[in-house]
Amino acid sequence: MLISITDLRKTYRMGSVEVRALDGVDLEVEAGDYLAVMGPSGSGKSTLMNLIGCLDTPTSGEYVLNGQAVSGLDDGELAHIRNREIGFVFQTFNLLSRATALANVELPLIYARLPASKRRRLALDALERVGLGDRVHHQPNELSGGQRQRVAVARALVNRPSILLADEPTGNLDSRTSEEIMALFDDLNASGNTIVLVTHEEDIAAHADRTVRLLDGRVVSDQRGGARRGRS
Ligand SMILES: Nc1ncnc2c1ncn2[C@@H]1O[C@H](COP(=O)(O)OP(=O)(O)OP(=O)(O)O)[C@@H](O)[C@H]1O
Ligand SMILES: [Mg+2]
Repeated sequence: MLISITDLRKTYRMGSVEVRALDGVDLEVEAGDYLAVMGPSGSGKSTLMNLIGCLDTPTSGEYVLNGQAVSGLDDGELAHIRNREIGFVFQTFNLLSRATALANVELPLIYARLPASKRRRLALDALERVGLGDRVHHQPNELSGGQRQRVAVARALVNRPSILLADEPTGNLDSRTSEEIMALFDDLNASGNTIVLVTHEEDIAAHADRTVRLLDGRVVSDQRGGARRGRS
């Protein structure tokens, strides 16, 4: 099992008010899974993604990622695991605006302390992978929205993470461009990448093989068998 989550809780304290963003979540994700997380605004989707992505620590509960118990780790240890295991894609792309596509994709490899020539080669490979081999010297403002999101996907992939996490990756894209990005995710999953994505849209979730629905910080349904075309 790639991800094993048991009774995960995250409580935010705002003065005297307690917000139970996650209220006892159990979730298992296998290597190769293609999972959509749905649920109304405020149901805990981003909170769950941030915990899975080791960007934050739970209030209580168990989280085992790739055989390692993550729940008790400090920030330094979490950063290390994040670098090795996680690729993140955000709704707002989160690219460096003054840097080229190539430089943006190389960034995680700089943190991983790879030599410059190897960094360049891996970043070029990742940009090829997402169909941007002819745009590597463009800055974000010289790219379309879909191309920006492709750069972000290349950056998420360049470390060869064990899991790709995407929080509303099509939230800022029109429907045609969204389908383009989803076709890329389909492709990445077909070649073995584990993907967990958050979406509000049923037709985006239909690309996944499994849909988990959250309500008030709890899992209320977990359905296997996606409606995706061309898959058995
Ligand atoms: N840093 C924080 N401090 C306090 N409360 C928070 C914090 N982050 C999230 N919350 C609260 O936790 C609950 C879950 O938030 P979360 O962002 O996970 O929802 P979501 O399902 O991603 O919603 P959306 O669809 O709007 O993105 C909400 O009630 C939110 O107000
Ligand atoms: Mg959210």
